[in-house]
Amino acid sequence: MAKETSVIDKIVSLCKRRGFIYQSSEIYGGINACYDYGPLGVELKRNVKEFWWRSMVYENSNIVGLDAAILMHPKVWEASGHVQSFTDPLIDCKQCKARFREDDVDSEKLQMKQCPQCGTKGSLTEARQFNLMFKTNMGPVEERSSEIFLRPETAQGIYVNYKNVLDSSRQKIPFGIAQIGKAFRNEITPGNFIFRTREFEQMEMQYFICPEHDEDVYEEWKNNRLEWYKSLGITADKLRLHEHAEDELAHYAKRAIDIEYEFPMGYKELEGIHNRTDFDLTRHQDFSGKDLRYFDDQIRQRFIPYIIETSAGVDRTVLTCLIDAYEEEKLDNDTRTVLHLDAKIAPYKAAVFPLVKKDNMPEIARKITNDLMKEFLVFYDQSGAIGRRYRRQDEAGTPFCITVDSQTLTDQTVTIRDRDTMEQDRININSIISELKTRIEGRD
Ligand code: GAP
Repeated sequence: MAKETSVIDKIVSLCKRRGFIYQSSEIYGGINACYDYGPLGVELKRNVKEFWWRSMVYENSNIVGLDAAILMHPKVWEASGHVQSFTDPLIDCKQCKARFREDDVDSEKLQMKQCPQCGTKGSLTEARQFNLMFKTNMGPVEERSSEIFLRPETAQGIYVNYKNVLDSSRQKIPFGIAQIGKAFRNEITPGNFIFRTREFEQMEMQYFICPEHDEDVYEEWKNNRLEWYKSLGITADKLRLHEHAEDELAHYAKRAIDIEYEFPMGYKELEGIHNRTDFDLTRHQDFSGKDLRYFDDQIRQRFIPYIIETSAGVDRTVLTCLIDAYEEEKLDNDTRTVLHLDAKIAPYKAAVFPLVKKDNMPEIARKITNDLMKEFLVFYDQSGAIGRRYRRQDEAGTPFCITVDSQTLTDQTVTIRDRDTMEQDRININSIISELKTRIEGRD
């Protein structure tokens, strides 16, 4: 267990050191379970989102995008069931004031009503339901009528816009709506770095279908999503599917399967794939009084479509990419820390170095950097020994390093070093861009 915890600790420390992720509001002592993405983190996260968006919206002509507001009409959350059912059972310790999720307190301690932190007997309260939605007030008057919620899932923004999209984009069933955006949950026990936070991003796609096709479509999306994680470069052996038993199903789901990854703390959910049936649209139809039925001109009938949902966490996927890519590689005399990130999601695609700061090498290296920047994000570095510069890029996950050396001055060639094999080849300056493109696309 000690070893397992330390992997997360090492990732946290590397993330801060290299500018991937920082504690939010750190100079004020931080705020629990909130994180900020630094220069490298924001690139990694953007690349993950871009890869998802492409695989959904660009590779499927019947899936379109949406970006709905975070703040929605409060009735949305009554209709969705979140006001009533989006709760966790919570236990308080009357002595030390600590709070726990009921399922985090082991049954023996619960029977003795003994608090896990302070150990006082009889100090635990009965479990009571705690709603996970964040409340805020719309407008200047803090009264009940102006109370609204920060969305706890992006899905509802899609459901309430389904008719708008249908009427404006000429889609026919089956079709999907994809969205990436922030969601907020007042989690009782956030933790494991960015695994469970109170503010996070989701990548959700809702697929609207004829009810009778639900099982087949569900299978297709389950397989499709599992393959997506593999194409992101995640180790296939560490991914598995977990089917929810009847008593585990969320209030809206007829069927649910999680895609799980083997994190240092065990197998945990990366994404949920849900058969939400006609639950959401029927509820929104009832609560809004608007007809949300779909008219099928083939069979000349109106019906409420079923929805197959694929719901992934951006931050959780970023954490998975980091953990999966992390290696402390034993070399002859030392250890090399390297992030084997897939080249397509790596923050920098290449770094460019002059071997020494003289003989026109920095000027040539800067010119190469400027030319490459038109195609990729690259990093220029002239400070420190070349070996240390390579190691810094290994830790940042940069797949290739280009070095200008004395031979460049005579024959216009540079070395290109591969992060994973550490092998170096000589190539002509004019072929750097095409070589990088081939290598980035060719890697798995
Ligand atoms: N619309 C369905 C839905 O929201 P969910 O299983 O509650 O389903 C989907 O959430 C995904 O969102 C999870 O698999 C996870 O990746 C991410 N997620 C949920 N809560 C999270 C949290 N507190 N912190 C980070 N990611 C979270």
